[in-house]
Amino acid sequence: MNTKLASRNENKLRELARVLGDWRLELLDADGYPPEEGATYYENALAKARHGVKFVDEGWVLGEDSGLEVEGLGGGPGIRSARFGGGDPVGRLLGELRDIEGEGRRARYVCELVALSPSGEELRGTGVLEGRIAEEARGDEGFGYDPIFVPAGEERTVAELGNEWKAENSHRARAARDLLRAFNER
Ligand code: IMP
Repeated sequence: MNTKLASRNENKLRELARVLGDWRLELLDADGYPPEEGATYYENALAKARHGVKFVDEGWVLGEDSGLEVEGLGGGPGIRSARFGGGDPVGRLLGELRDIEGEGRRARYVCELVALSPSGEELRGTGVLEGRIAEEARGDEGFGYDPIFVPAGEERTVAELGNEWKAENSHRARAARDLLRAFNER
């Protein structure tokens, strides 16, 4: 089937397309996405998918929302991750955690997916990747906070572990597998 991802983020497309191979996922070229004002990742993902549906005549539309939750910031930046830190979110996060060690550096990536069918059917997928925030940025693959996110059980950052690792293990890959399970069970 042909599916549109209601997003302009090539990185998200690549990560999701690996798991959702049969869905023939493509970015949706749409303007006027609503601001991310939902109280949850799910609400934001649903709003993106609903917006995308307006531009598509056939096939499913996928909405995605994700964020980074840091223990020492009370779970922030969370659903506000995309707006955190202006042009330098990594620098701001490292700065805010400068005097914080141990538990306070614990963090998790969260991803919510919502798929809408042409007939209005809705499916969801959720994925979480636990880890911690490194002391300094390392590596150059991935995007966003990947140079400072060290997954649980690993020493290297996601940006060092690389896109292959991420395609298999990220919060997005997990959410995609969860969505696939929901799709196959319906
Ligand atoms: P969204 O586009 O509203 O979902 O914003 C997600 C934001 O969360 C991104 O701009 C990043 O700051 C952060 N984020 C989500 N997923 C990832 C990831 O896989 N790597 C790095 N940062 C991520």
